[in-house]
Amino acid sequence: MATHPATATATGAPREHLLKVLVVGELGAGKTSVIRRYVHQLFSQHYRATIGVDFALKVLAWDPRTLVRLQLWDVAGQERFGNMTRVYYKEADGAFIVFDISRSSTFEAVLKWKSDLDSKVHLPNGNPIPAVLLANKCDQKKDNGQIPPQMDQFCKEHGFSGWFETSAKDNINIDEAARFLVENILTSQQSFPKEDKDEDKIKLSEEKITAESKTQCC
Ligand code: GTP
Ligand code: MG
Repeated sequence: MATHPATATATGAPREHLLKVLVVGELGAGKTSVIRRYVHQLFSQHYRATIGVDFALKVLAWDPRTLVRLQLWDVAGQERFGNMTRVYYKEADGAFIVFDISRSSTFEAVLKWKSDLDSKVHLPNGNPIPAVLLANKCDQKKDNGQIPPQMDQFCKEHGFSGWFETSAKDNINIDEAARFLVENILTSQQSFPKEDKDEDKIKLSEEKITAESKTQCC
């Protein structure tokens, strides 16, 4: 979204950042559940595959002088085989790549998602957008899950800002991961000039969210 760190307003109103964050990963990895937990504090065992893309908005009081509006783009796992990711990724500021620790195939696909991302969106200076890896369903670690070994090394090698084990079910580490991603996004954008009016962009984007989330449609 080529976000624009807003400058402090003359009236003393908080600065606002509108950030577009992609949530991608294989089918059933838990992307929608992570978002639902984060935004609505809800969890359901029931699985309903996302079709196309869905949206959610979370407003964070980042600090007393800064408001962050996180626009979360919940991209269906099946979209890796479709043609729409280029459209969804446009102007994204950061991403979560989610896998399911109880299904190793979802971890194996992580690098496919990462290279899809890096080939289609980047920062104005050409660098990849910050991406954080989520090892989701960590509540299943004891039964049938496993965190792959050497995750720190994996992240370093493949350009992830970091990783978290998360559980949408038990509400583990989701707020922490989001905070970490936002920090990385804000740092990555510090040197970019402000482009156009945040106010217009926020208004348009929120209207878009309302309209599109009703239809779950691209
Ligand atoms: P697509 O929309 O098809 O790409 O899937 P998704 O990644 O959005 O997965 P979704 O959030 O719909 O979750 C798939 C299934 O995993 C659902 O049955 C969820 O209840 C379950 N699930 C998601 N997160 C967790 C978790 O942290 N722990 C457990 N135990 N189950 C989870
Ligand atoms: Mg989904």
